[in-house]
Amino acid sequence: MRNWNYNITDMIFPMLYLCMIPNAIASNTTCSDLVYMKIKYNATLIYGYSGFSSSIASVRKCLELCRDDVLCKSVGIDTSKMDCYLYDGRVYAGLPGTVNTDMIYYWQLEVECPVHLGNSEDSTSKIYIECPVHLGNSEDPTSNKYTECPIHRGYSQDPISKICSKFYSDIVNWTHAQEICEMDGGHLFVADTTEKIAILRAQYLIGATDILQEDDWNWLNGVPVDENLFASTQPSNTRDDEHCLAKYRSGLNDVPCHAGFKFICEVPTNIAFNQ
Ligand SMILES: *[C@@H]1O[C@H](CO)[C@@H](O)[C@H](O)[C@H]1NC(C)=O
Ligand SMILES: *[C@@H]1O[C@H](CO)[C@@H](O)[C@H](O)[C@H]1NC(C)=O
Ligand SMILES: *[C@@H]1O[C@H](CO)[C@@H](O)[C@H](O)[C@H]1NC(C)=O
Repeated sequence: MRNWNYNITDMIFPMLYLCMIPNAIASNTTCSDLVYMKIKYNATLIYGYSGFSSSIASVRKCLELCRDDVLCKSVGIDTSKMDCYLYDGRVYAGLPGTVNTDMIYYWQLEVECPVHLGNSEDSTSKIYIECPVHLGNSEDPTSNKYTECPIHRGYSQDPISKICSKFYSDIVNWTHAQEICEMDGGHLFVADTTEKIAILRAQYLIGATDILQEDDWNWLNGVPVDENLFASTQPSNTRDDEHCLAKYRSGLNDVPCHAGFKFICEVPTNIAFNQ
């Protein structure tokens, strides 16, 4: 097992604000600009970026470039060279890339003004108010509250953890299940925290595989699967053909990637990612 140490405060609090127009009258800061959240993954350069600038002056400069690019949703910064990579989607770990421990990543948070941190919403800014349906997001019809969780596609968001998931009862293989989750803007469910392990149900496919390296089980976000979660005598790799993961009653079980199961999808949202 690789050692993957992090704690919850490291994950939740590193946010960087780009409040460019400070309110000259009020003592607090008005969120007239975007908020970025540092994501916990920082070991690999994730390819698929849509823009690149070399030798930027600061991390903040990269976030400003992202702010000024209408498509930009997240950035990667190579702190050794101060290279700035702009992505037109939310990056998450586990995508192919080369090892680079100097990388840091930020997600742009479009809608949530962190009022509990003393900020306030700019009433003239549309950033925090309007539901960006053009980006595939949805608005709760009763509360009119914007959510990044696609509730219009049958997803539900846990009110406390904000984990956004859908239990599909269609019987499909792991690869096909992952494709369906991707069409929803997500991926197969990654149960890399206690809260997420708690919501798993038996006989559903989930988002981990050892396809790259036999018996090296990783969630799709790159986090290693806790081997204590496997059912006893599992993973068995029966007939050298079990490289995909499902939840069984007594624990996790490796299953053939071509075998049909129900499956759980997850759409990462700006809050749930780091829970
Ligand atoms: C923060 O600023 C806003 C806008 O000027 C104001 O309405 C609000 O009362 C202020 N909040 C605090 C805690 O000062
Ligand atoms: C990447 O993460 C590790 C472990 O959390 C940390 O020690 C290191 O300083 C981070 N690197 C950067 C460039 O932030
Ligand atoms: C998974 O199912 C899809 C759709 O039925 C099929 O095209 C694909 O070949 C299957 N993959 C495997 C590995 O069996």
